[in-house]
Amino acid sequence: MTFRDIILIPDKRLKTVVEPLANIDKDTRILVDDMFETMYEAEGYGLAGPQIGVMGRIIVVDCAKEDKGEKPDPIAMINPDIVFSSEEISVYEEGCLSIPEYFEEVERPANIRVKYLNVDGKTIEREADGLLATCIQHEIDHLNGKLFIDYISRLKRDRIIKKFQKLARQNAG
Ligand code: NI
Repeated sequence: MTFRDIILIPDKRLKTVVEPLANIDKDTRILVDDMFETMYEAEGYGLAGPQIGVMGRIIVVDCAKEDKGEKPDPIAMINPDIVFSSEEISVYEEGCLSIPEYFEEVERPANIRVKYLNVDGKTIEREADGLLATCIQHEIDHLNGKLFIDYISRLKRDRIIKKFQKLARQNAG
């Protein structure tokens, strides 16, 4: 397993709608392993392909709370599609590995049903609620070039983007 570098805003790849994966093979399984390692190392609840420069529809999530004694629950989803969203809304404070150290409350449907392919190429359909529902929606948004800061006020969003633009300039020397 290899840790992959995580891309930060304002990188254009994070604003790109990416294509479905055409086939699932050995390389896909290596990619999934790398994505889990990268996510766990960075202490995130989820990671999407574009965040490591893989421009395909693939995400990993694990919303188990270790500190509450929950067992790891790694889920990899290829070409995920939300087929149902509840009208009921839930609110979580979200963060993103591509926007480090920034957190804001976001409203999303509380319950979803999602259809995807697993690493064996099998079609799975499952329901999710609570934090998992939010995580899955956050990660699928990444595949559509959407970030959680797109849900907050323009003023706050512009401020955070400016901060990261400045950081990117500094890092570029
Ligand atoms: Ni994110």
